[in-house]
Amino acid sequence: MSQDQLKQAVARAALEYIRPRLESDVIVGIGTGSTANYFIDELAQVKQFFDGAVASSEASADRLKSHGIPVYDLNSIDRLSVYVDGADESNGRLQLIKGGGAALTREKIVAAVAEEFVCIADESKWVDVLGAFALPVEVIPMARSHVGRALVALGADPIYRQGVTTDNGNIIIDCHGLHIHDPEKLESDINQIVGVVTNGLFARRPADVLLLGTTSGVEEKRVSSI
Ligand code: A5P
Repeated sequence: MSQDQLKQAVARAALEYIRPRLESDVIVGIGTGSTANYFIDELAQVKQFFDGAVASSEASADRLKSHGIPVYDLNSIDRLSVYVDGADESNGRLQLIKGGGAALTREKIVAAVAEEFVCIADESKWVDVLGAFALPVEVIPMARSHVGRALVALGADPIYRQGVTTDNGNIIIDCHGLHIHDPEKLESDINQIVGVVTNGLFARRPADVLLLGTTSGVEEKRVSSI
Protein backbone atom coordinates (compact mmCIF):
# COMPACT_ATOMS: atom_id res chain seq x y z
CA MET A 1 0.00 0.00 0.00
CA SER A 2 1.20 3.53 -0.73
CA GLN A 3 1.55 6.17 1.98
CA ASP A 4 -1.55 7.91 0.62
CA GLN A 5 -3.55 4.67 0.83
CA LEU A 6 -2.45 4.26 4.45
CA LYS A 7 -3.53 7.84 5.19
CA GLN A 8 -6.92 7.16 3.60
CA ALA A 9 -7.28 3.98 5.64
CA VAL A 10 -6.67 5.77 8.94
CA ALA A 11 -9.05 8.55 7.92
CA ARG A 12 -11.78 5.94 7.39
CA ALA A 13 -10.88 4.28 10.70
CA ALA A 14 -11.13 7.64 12.46
CA LEU A 15 -14.61 8.18 11.09
CA GLU A 16 -15.67 4.76 12.39
CA TYR A 17 -14.03 5.59 15.72
CA ILE A 18 -15.97 8.83 16.25
CA ARG A 19 -19.20 7.87 14.45
CA PRO A 20 -21.00 6.62 17.62
CA ARG A 21 -20.72 10.06 19.21
CA LEU A 22 -21.97 12.10 16.22
CA GLU A 23 -25.21 13.82 17.23
CA SER A 24 -27.05 16.94 16.10
CA ASP A 25 -25.31 19.18 18.68
CA VAL A 26 -21.78 17.74 18.34
CA ILE A 27 -18.88 19.80 16.99
CA VAL A 28 -15.77 17.99 15.77
CA GLY A 29 -12.25 19.42 16.01
CA ILE A 30 -10.30 19.12 12.77
CA GLY A 31 -6.56 19.22 12.22
CA THR A 32 -4.42 20.16 9.26
CA GLY A 33 -2.44 18.31 6.61
CA SER A 34 -2.95 15.61 4.03
CA THR A 35 -4.18 12.96 6.50
CA ALA A 36 -6.61 15.44 8.06
CA ASN A 37 -7.79 16.31 4.55
CA TYR A 38 -8.69 12.67 3.93
CA PHE A 39 -10.57 12.70 7.23
CA ILE A 40 -12.50 15.85 6.23
CA ASP A 41 -13.53 14.12 3.00
CA GLU A 42 -14.75 11.08 4.98
CA LEU A 43 -16.59 13.28 7.46
CA ALA A 44 -18.43 15.05 4.66
CA GLN A 45 -20.29 11.80 3.95
CA VAL A 46 -22.01 11.97 7.35
CA LYS A 47 -22.37 15.74 7.67
CA GLN A 48 -26.11 15.49 8.32
CA PHE A 49 -25.46 13.71 11.63
CA PHE A 50 -23.48 16.44 13.46
CA ASP A 51 -23.55 20.20 13.94
CA GLY A 52 -20.22 21.37 12.50
CA ALA A 53 -16.48 21.67 13.07
CA VAL A 54 -13.72 23.77 14.55
CA ALA A 55 -10.66 23.97 12.30
CA SER A 56 -6.99 24.31 13.21
CA SER A 57 -6.14 26.24 10.04
CA GLU A 58 -7.64 28.40 7.34
CA ALA A 59 -6.88 25.64 4.83
CA SER A 60 -8.91 23.06 6.77
CA ALA A 61 -11.71 25.60 7.33
CA ASP A 62 -11.88 26.19 3.57
CA ARG A 63 -11.99 22.45 2.85
CA LEU A 64 -14.74 21.90 5.44
CA LYS A 65 -16.79 24.77 4.01
CA SER A 66 -16.34 23.44 0.48
CA HIS A 67 -18.10 20.28 1.68
CA GLY A 68 -20.91 22.33 3.25
CA ILE A 69 -19.79 21.61 6.83
CA PRO A 70 -20.34 24.65 9.12
CA VAL A 71 -17.13 25.96 10.74
CA TYR A 72 -17.32 27.51 14.21
CA ASP A 73 -15.00 29.89 16.03
CA LEU A 74 -13.45 28.02 18.97
CA ASN A 75 -14.51 30.84 21.30
CA SER A 76 -18.16 30.34 20.43
CA ILE A 77 -18.44 26.75 21.61
CA ASP A 78 -18.77 25.29 25.10
CA ARG A 79 -17.46 21.80 24.52
CA LEU A 80 -15.31 19.89 22.07
CA SER A 81 -15.51 16.18 22.68
CA VAL A 82 -13.03 15.08 20.02
CA TYR A 83 -10.16 16.42 17.92
CA VAL A 84 -8.80 14.45 14.94
CA ASP A 85 -5.42 15.39 13.47
CA GLY A 86 -2.29 13.98 11.86
CA ALA A 87 1.30 14.14 13.06
CA ASP A 88 4.83 14.26 11.72
CA GLU A 89 6.15 11.84 14.36
CA SER A 90 4.79 9.88 17.33
CA ASN A 91 6.69 8.01 20.01
CA GLY A 92 5.34 5.17 22.13
CA ARG A 93 3.89 7.56 24.69
CA LEU A 94 1.88 9.17 21.87
CA GLN A 95 3.92 12.34 22.24
CA LEU A 96 4.09 14.03 18.87
CA ILE A 97 6.00 16.36 16.64
CA LYS A 98 3.58 18.45 14.62
CA GLY A 99 3.75 21.57 12.49
CA GLY A 100 5.08 20.32 9.19
CA GLY A 101 2.18 22.28 7.71
CA ALA A 102 2.91 25.33 9.93
CA ALA A 103 -0.41 25.03 11.79
CA LEU A 104 1.07 23.93 15.12
CA THR A 105 -0.18 26.77 17.31
CA ARG A 106 -3.84 26.48 16.36
CA GLU A 107 -3.51 22.70 16.46
CA LYS A 108 -2.16 22.88 19.99
CA ILE A 109 -4.98 25.21 21.06
CA VAL A 110 -7.71 22.95 19.67
CA ALA A 111 -6.03 19.87 21.17
CA ALA A 112 -5.93 21.62 24.55
CA VAL A 113 -9.67 22.21 24.47
CA ALA A 114 -10.66 18.75 23.21
CA GLU A 115 -11.65 16.03 25.63
CA GLU A 116 -10.11 13.38 23.37
CA PHE A 117 -7.31 13.81 20.82
CA VAL A 118 -7.40 11.14 18.12
CA CYS A 119 -4.18 11.14 16.11
CA ILE A 120 -4.20 9.59 12.63
CA ALA A 121 -0.96 8.70 10.89
CA ASP A 122 0.71 6.24 8.57
CA GLU A 123 3.41 3.95 9.93
CA SER A 124 6.26 6.15 8.65
CA LYS A 125 5.47 8.53 11.54
CA TRP A 126 6.11 5.94 14.30
CA VAL A 127 9.54 6.46 15.94
CA ASP A 128 11.47 5.38 19.03
CA VAL A 129 12.92 8.83 19.68
CA LEU A 130 11.41 12.10 18.44
CA GLY A 131 13.55 14.49 16.43
CA ALA A 132 14.45 13.00 13.06
CA PHE A 133 11.67 15.24 11.71
CA ALA A 134 12.85 18.81 12.28
CA LEU A 135 10.88 20.35 15.17
CA PRO A 136 8.89 23.41 14.01
CA VAL A 137 8.77 26.51 16.21
CA GLU A 138 6.37 29.41 15.52
CA VAL A 139 8.11 32.73 16.18
CA ILE A 140 7.15 36.42 16.22
CA PRO A 141 9.01 37.82 13.17
CA MET A 142 11.08 40.48 15.00
CA ALA A 143 12.43 37.79 17.39
CA ARG A 144 13.81 35.53 14.64
CA SER A 145 17.53 36.03 15.32
CA HIS A 146 17.16 36.07 19.10
CA VAL A 147 15.14 32.83 19.05
CA GLY A 148 17.58 31.23 16.62
CA ARG A 149 20.49 31.89 19.01
CA ALA A 150 18.52 30.53 21.95
CA LEU A 151 17.64 27.37 20.00
CA VAL A 152 21.33 26.80 19.22
CA ALA A 153 22.01 27.05 22.96
CA LEU A 154 19.45 24.28 23.47
CA GLY A 155 21.35 22.04 21.03
CA ALA A 156 19.33 22.58 17.87
CA ASP A 157 20.40 23.49 14.37
CA PRO A 158 17.68 26.06 13.54
CA ILE A 159 16.69 26.76 9.94
CA TYR A 160 14.31 29.58 8.98
CA ARG A 161 11.49 28.17 6.82
CA GLN A 162 11.68 30.48 3.80
CA GLY A 163 8.50 31.91 2.34
CA VAL A 164 6.12 30.63 5.02
CA THR A 165 3.82 32.87 7.07
CA THR A 166 1.53 31.15 9.54
CA ASP A 167 -2.21 31.83 9.80
CA ASN A 168 -1.25 33.99 12.80
CA GLY A 169 1.17 36.16 10.77
CA ASN A 170 4.33 34.64 12.20
CA ILE A 171 7.36 32.72 10.89
CA ILE A 172 8.52 29.13 11.38
CA ILE A 173 11.98 28.03 12.47
CA ASP A 174 12.66 24.29 12.04
CA CYS A 175 15.01 22.70 14.57
CA HIS A 176 17.21 20.03 13.00
CA GLY A 177 19.63 17.65 14.68
CA LEU A 178 17.62 16.91 17.82
CA HIS A 179 17.32 13.54 19.61
CA ILE A 180 14.51 14.34 22.01
CA HIS A 181 14.80 12.09 25.05
CA ASP A 182 12.82 14.37 27.39
CA PRO A 183 10.04 15.84 25.25
CA GLU A 184 8.15 17.52 28.13
CA LYS A 185 11.26 19.43 29.23
CA LEU A 186 12.23 20.52 25.71
CA GLU A 187 8.65 21.61 25.00
CA SER A 188 8.74 23.83 28.09
CA ASP A 189 12.29 25.09 27.54
CA ILE A 190 11.57 26.24 24.00
CA ASN A 191 8.31 27.87 25.04
CA GLN A 192 10.23 29.90 27.62
CA ILE A 193 12.23 31.69 24.91
CA VAL A 194 10.88 35.21 24.49
CA GLY A 195 9.44 35.57 21.00
CA VAL A 196 8.37 31.94 20.67
CA VAL A 197 4.63 31.53 20.19
CA THR A 198 4.79 27.77 20.65
CA ASN A 199 6.64 24.73 19.39
CA GLY A 200 5.49 21.57 17.65
CA LEU A 201 6.12 19.17 20.53
CA PHE A 202 2.85 17.75 21.80
CA ALA A 203 4.35 16.10 24.89
CA ARG A 204 2.47 17.69 27.78
CA ARG A 205 -0.78 17.12 25.92
CA PRO A 206 -0.08 13.97 23.87
CA ALA A 207 -2.65 12.14 21.79
CA ASP A 208 -5.11 9.97 23.69
CA VAL A 209 -5.28 7.40 20.92
CA LEU A 210 -3.26 6.85 17.76
CA LEU A 211 -4.78 5.15 14.73
CA LEU A 212 -1.68 3.99 12.88
CA GLY A 213 -1.97 2.84 9.29
CA THR A 214 0.26 -0.15 8.56
CA THR A 215 0.45 -2.50 5.60
CA SER A 216 -1.28 -5.14 7.72
CA GLY A 217 -4.12 -2.88 8.85
CA VAL A 218 -4.94 0.03 11.15
CA GLU A 219 -3.57 -0.39 14.68
CA GLU A 220 -5.24 1.39 17.61
CA LYS A 221 -2.52 2.46 20.04
CA ARG A 222 -2.98 3.85 23.54
CA VAL A 223 -0.26 4.48 26.07
CA SER A 224 -1.75 1.81 28.33
CA SER A 225 -1.65 -0.76 25.48
CA ILE A 226 2.01 -0.24 24.50
C1 A5P B 1 0.29 20.49 10.28
O1 A5P B 1 0.84 21.66 10.80
C2 A5P B 1 0.91 19.28 10.88
O2 A5P B 1 0.94 19.26 12.25
C3 A5P B 1 0.31 18.01 10.32
O3 A5P B 1 -0.59 17.45 11.20
C4 A5P B 1 1.42 17.08 10.09
O4 A5P B 1 2.39 17.77 9.34
C5 A5P B 1 0.97 15.82 9.35
O5 A5P B 1 0.79 16.09 8.02
P1 A5P B 1 0.39 14.98 6.98
O6 A5P B 1 -0.90 14.41 7.42
O7 A5P B 1 0.27 15.74 5.69
O8 A5P B 1 1.49 13.96 6.95
